[in-house]
Amino acid sequence: MTLFNKTISAILPFIPRTFAKPFASRYVAGVTVDEALNVIQKLNDSGFDVTLDILGEHTTSSNKTEEVTLAYKELYNRISAAELDCNISLKLTHLGLGFDDKLAEINLLRVLESALQQNNFLRIDMENSPYTDRILKLYHRCLEKYDRVGFVLQSYLIRSTGDLEKNLGEKLNVRICKGIYLEPAEIAFQDREEIRESFISLVKMILEGKGYAAIATHDLYIIDTLETWILNKNIQSNRYEFQMLYGVPTKGRLEELRDSGHKVRVYVPFGEEWYAYSVRRMKENPNLAGYIIKNLFHR
Ligand code: FDA
Repeated sequence: MTLFNKTISAILPFIPRTFAKPFASRYVAGVTVDEALNVIQKLNDSGFDVTLDILGEHTTSSNKTEEVTLAYKELYNRISAAELDCNISLKLTHLGLGFDDKLAEINLLRVLESALQQNNFLRIDMENSPYTDRILKLYHRCLEKYDRVGFVLQSYLIRSTGDLEKNLGEKLNVRICKGIYLEPAEIAFQDREEIRESFISLVKMILEGKGYAAIATHDLYIIDTLETWILNKNIQSNRYEFQMLYGVPTKGRLEELRDSGHKVRVYVPFGEEWYAYSVRRMKENPNLAGYIIKNLFHR
């Protein structure tokens, strides 16, 4: 981590919201549902699918988890009514995991019910390592009720190959990402190349089996390597998708992938908690500060 990133991440929490907004707004599709739906419509019109996330995590009151659960349920209705190509990604700590695990399970199953009613898909994001087992367990609870549900594995976690092996099968729909939290060397690869190799190997394992892979990265080396492998192996385009975060610059690669006939999905976060979210992200991984500053000057 450079001194620059360290300094920026240390001062960002003290920057007033008004000044911080430009830092975050590139990555966040507004505060209200209407603003988010507007962004999704534009992305759909340009040929991109979307996964929508209400910003927030680590909820510590039952009232708040109720509010979040109802908001997610309503979101499925709004997506259907507007006929958008959009599913939902959520964080289980937002629904109460870590605060009241039983409540989080009940809330998750209620959101899943709306996904089922609207015949839409639900992705459970992966959070930091104290939650990995609990998240995988709740994913399996969902799978008992509805199979249009997926989870996420982080390629920096040494355990991910084992977790994938346990879940290989036709119903498997897994997003592979590098992992955004700081994890210790006992459980996580620290070397960039090892994390990349693990990422590539996890995606190949899924596609050599019967599962569906969501390839979530902006790392052009990984994207190029996997695209070439997919084409050489003649993997059907309905077996995978590329995913990227809203607002992250990709030097036109997003559009190239779309134009080459691959499905590309943009992860779009929105909501009132944009400020807390940005600051927390920055504290957890100060390297992100560098990206944000870079983006500010690109604008
Ligand atoms: P890397 O960090 O090496 O970035 C590659 C290049 O992309 C960099 O050189 C940089 O230029 C650019 N870049 C990357 N991130 C940027 C940013 N925020 N702003 C500007 N430029 C950026 N993590 C997790 O733990 N659980 C999860 O559920 C998810 N879900 C998820 C969904 C989707 C669709 C994506 C794309 C990512 C996630 N992640 C995640 C985050 C993921 O684990 C990882 O931290 C980031 O994607 C950054 O890693 P890259 O693979 O992009 O590589």
